Amino acid sequence: MTSRSRPIGVFDSGVGGLSVLRHIRAALPGEDLLYVADSAHAPYGVKSAAFIEERALAIAEFLVGQGAKALVVACNTATSAAIVGLRRRFELPIVGMEPAVKPAVEATRSGVIGVLATGGTLESTRFAELVGRFGSKARVVVQPCPGLVERVESGDLSGPATRALLSAFVSPLLAQGADTLVLGCTHYPFLQPLLRELAGEDVALVETGAAVARQLARRLAEADFLPAHSAGREVFFSSGEPGRMEALLPQLWGRAAPVERLTCG
Ligand code: DGL
Repeated sequence: MTSRSRPIGVFDSGVGGLSVLRHIRAALPGEDLLYVADSAHAPYGVKSAAFIEERALAIAEFLVGQGAKALVVACNTATSAAIVGLRRRFELPIVGMEPAVKPAVEATRSGVIGVLATGGTLESTRFAELVGRFGSKARVVVQPCPGLVERVESGDLSGPATRALLSAFVSPLLAQGADTLVLGCTHYPFLQPLLRELAGEDVALVETGAAVARQLARRLAEADFLPAHSAGREVFFSSGEPGRMEALLPQLWGRAAPVERLTCG
């Protein structure tokens, strides 16, 4: 297999990274995509950085073994814990993600931005550095969201329990004057309709999936890795119960697909 026709490996702690995968598919229709949901170990947000790095390395090893020519860490928490170790271990383009603090401080009119993310992301050195670089232009109010990833993993994107939880996280940010909310976890874009309802039309919601897809396309073009064919396929893996992810795919991916069981690490 030439480098061009090899697949791209994408992973997350669970199904959240599908919010990034949809942007990758739109930007790169000819690429074959392998997606790993580490649902047996979700949520990552409450785990130690060492544990997350171990998982990320094992999943990356699996994806590289499947022929991946590039990796996307479709998870803010795993990026903050593991991207340095991944880049040290693997010599291929690796794209990670971070909460969109920079675009948010540029967009805010009230001078206050709210960042919704996992505790793991918000407590990381990477996030502190990010706020250090761009946070002087606006007040950055952070909100860890324990329990929210589990709502998305269960497929409940708008029920009473999800609404109550999200409302409890968003209200303090709005009360402090935030007019721009950063969706700093890849599970949260799936809650965007509910978030829009809770936050109102005047609050900007910022996510990074499209920017990650653009960055990936740039990296592939630089490496001369863009594919020759035009209709890419997706293969899904889960370390959890494949049937559970299969049940979520129509809702989160827009169509049904088989899910293979991932056994690594
Ligand atoms: N989707 C992830 C993120 O972007 C991780 C969520 C979790 O497993 O806690 O941070």
